[in-house]
Amino acid sequence: MSSVEYIQYHGILLPPLAHSMESLEYAEKFSVEDSDVFAVTYPKSGTIWMQEILPLVLNGGDLTPIHTVPNWDRVPWLEEKRLALVVDKLESPRGLVTHFPYHLMPPSFHSSKAKAIYVMRDPKDIVVSSYHFHKMAEFLESPGTFDEFIEKFIKGKVLFGKWTDHVKSWRGADLGDRIMYITYEEMVQDLPAAIRRISDFVGRNLSEEAIQKIAEHCSFRTMKNNNMSNFSLVPKKYMNSDTSPFLRKGVAGDWKNHFSPEQLARFTSAISKDLEGESFSLPWSL
Ligand code: A3P
Repeated sequence: MSSVEYIQYHGILLPPLAHSMESLEYAEKFSVEDSDVFAVTYPKSGTIWMQEILPLVLNGGDLTPIHTVPNWDRVPWLEEKRLALVVDKLESPRGLVTHFPYHLMPPSFHSSKAKAIYVMRDPKDIVVSSYHFHKMAEFLESPGTFDEFIEKFIKGKVLFGKWTDHVKSWRGADLGDRIMYITYEEMVQDLPAAIRRISDFVGRNLSEEAIQKIAEHCSFRTMKNNNMSNFSLVPKKYMNSDTSPFLRKGVAGDWKNHFSPEQLARFTSAISKDLEGESFSLPWSL
């Protein structure tokens, strides 16, 4: 097992490569604008997918940014080091992305009118995606066996903490019409419909032609071939796509190829117990 020193931040673990105490301090003091739109996700829920869709919706379908700017600078992470370097280049309305739970959002987010799009994914598929990601991401701890990784995930000993805590924090966020909830599965099932919902939410009245064009450019296949979106610009010593590509399968339900019946029962019972008494229901059966 490789030994990687993660950053401990308010009880959650963050990888050191992209984060630092300075970047976290910068995030705390970050000045959110009313027109900002945040894509919010627990890792492996479809973050880079929303990073692809959001700027295209905000700019009315102009493909220039997705062909010229890597995703991490196009829609930068609130908590990562790159934000301070690119913030002045971002065009308004700005698209930003974060893995933070709700309570770690900066004060200026709460006092602003900025919007958030919370992307949720079936946690069984998150575990699978994250397991393969930990194998290829050399800057992360190796995941151990799939069974060991399931245990870590259940206990929240993974990046950004427990999935259930993340979901609870954002489902409980008192943001009224400033927040929209969408699932990865909904996006897989009907991407143009998902883009239509997103464009309505951010107040862009996109033509059907623009929606179809965005959907085509945000398809799994197109993103997999876009060097600005597929992480091929990251040196292999950090992300080794020969082990597993970042854009790996892009489907809903790959967990069926990984979980044994016993693992499924254990996982389901732990997640259900964590969510007992919550007023929201999950869009998938566990
Ligand atoms: P898989 O590993 O299951 O393939 P994140 O960006 O939050 O890290 O999530 C990564 C997951 O989103 C990966 O899942 C990746 O393949 C998937 N993904 C990214 N872009 C996608 C797209 N256009 N269509 C479907 N899935 C996509």
